[in-house]
Amino acid sequence: MEILRHLVVLIHLIGFATLFGAWIVEAVARRVQVTRLMSYGLLISLVTGLILAAPWGIEYDLNYTKIAVKLVVLVVIGALLGIGSARQKRTGAVPPILFWLVGPLTLLNAALAVLWR
Ligand code: HEM
Repeated sequence: MEILRHLVVLIHLIGFATLFGAWIVEAVARRVQVTRLMSYGLLISLVTGLILAAPWGIEYDLNYTKIAVKLVVLVVIGALLGIGSARQKRTGAVPPILFWLVGPLTLLNAALAVLWR
């Protein structure tokens, strides 16, 4: 059971890497656009995060306040990606503030996961 949970944590981290990595690639190239890979990373983080939010394969209590905050942050990132991609399709450009918030909010969720015990 414990090894299975660790496996889900690993896939959760792949979701984080995919979302953040896809954003970094665009940011470094100064392309203010959202990509499908970002949404895939977010979806992987959401599904695996919800699985991890259930108390199985552990002997300690989960911090549900932290998990709720992470879920809210993820919903905000989802809204940014959703609005961003709709604008991109309609006008060909994403409002820069939407794009530039995605990376820091993703990092915020990783920081909450690691630093808030
Ligand atoms: C962009 C979104 C997210 C990012 C970047 C992220 C990042 C991370 C990282 C880096 C860890 C590993 C922490 C460690 O092992 O010390 C982690 C663990 C965890 N995350 Fe997320 N997360 C995200 C979304 C979510 C969501 C939406 C949920 C639940 C609703 C969630 C629930 C959890 C749980 C329960 C753990 C602990 C796993 C364990 O130790 O058993 N995460 N997250």
